[in-house]
Amino acid sequence: MRRLLPGPDLENPDLARLYEYPPGRWLRANMVSSADGAAFLGGVTSPLSSPGDRHVFALLRTLADVIVVGASTVRAERYATVRRHELWDHLRAGRPPTPPIAVVSGRLDLRPDSRLIASAPSHARTIVITTAQAPPERRAELAERADVIVAGQETVDLKAAVDALADRGHQRMLAEGGPHLLGQLVAAGLLDELCLTIGPLLAGPGPGRIVAGSPPDAPPLQLTLAHVLQDNGFLLCRYIRKDHLSERTGVRAHRVRGSPVIRGNARRVHGAVFEGRGSRPRSNPAATAAARSLTPSLA
Ligand SMILES: NC(=O)c1ccc[n+]([C@@H]2O[C@H](COP(=O)([O-])OP(=O)(O)OC[C@H]3O[C@@H](n4cnc5c(N)ncnc54)[C@H](OP(=O)(O)O)[C@@H]3O)[C@@H](O)[C@H]2O)c1
Repeated sequence: MRRLLPGPDLENPDLARLYEYPPGRWLRANMVSSADGAAFLGGVTSPLSSPGDRHVFALLRTLADVIVVGASTVRAERYATVRRHELWDHLRAGRPPTPPIAVVSGRLDLRPDSRLIASAPSHARTIVITTAQAPPERRAELAERADVIVAGQETVDLKAAVDALADRGHQRMLAEGGPHLLGQLVAAGLLDELCLTIGPLLAGPGPGRIVAGSPPDAPPLQLTLAHVLQDNGFLLCRYIRKDHLSERTGVRAHRVRGSPVIRGNARRVHGAVFEGRGSRPRSNPAATAAARSLTPSLA
């Protein structure tokens, strides 16, 4: 057992490097919770958040090619398009200045004249991901102002949806929730990484957790802790799927001087074999690069 805090001060770490996406396709989720696991308070997340959490929230948006979100979160949090002044321009060199938001919705209870849809810039038109059975009139209305992707018949097939986003060049995906969407992404084996801020607050009984939905058939998803930042009592954790680091490589997670680090022979780390679910190849360049990126960024 190691003491994480207080630990050696590493003031102002290079956050952009710490949260850099590995090359290739990668789906990261960013969530916040109270110390007792509440995912919202009064129906929204702002009471759980902090300036540091919002800083990382904006950074993760800056680093993403597309932001994926469930329609209930759009409605509850009054989503708007991402604005350029919220991001770091220099981190988007070679890419459009802002990423589009992709909303997952079956009912299409989304206003075409909303800030999210009507105000989207041409380089980042909002994407609506829906089903073949979605109300056709609503779909036609939305299609005038947004890009519509049909993935699935009765419910959105999230694997097909994520494939469609990747086919459009959106390799670096950021899921911002909510818990029902996250639950399905996990169940479908699509989640590569979880960034979770845990705030120093007891929310009390009532609010749900960051993952919701039907109990899964699959066993719990094992994660590796890649880093923890502390900011005014808030813990900002970054977890990577454990099966991105093969048992066979012998790579083990250790914490060194209060910081988590992946130790091991670099050649073996680079040779990590992806053993995830689904149809990904066994040698996954993104997973390999993730393993590689952990070592220098956390040492
Ligand atoms: N703690 C956090 O980090 C965090 C993050 C985000 C949100 N939140 C909170 O979570 C709450 C909302 O989350 P939620 O879990 O209730 O909802 P959600 O996951 O945001 O959205 C669920 C909705 O998305 C659509 N959807 C999702 N999967 C679908 C599928 N496979 N096929 C078709 N449609 C699908 C449906 O929309 P339609 O109803 O339009 O069909 C469904 O009602 C809010 O209170 C928000 O503040 C917390």
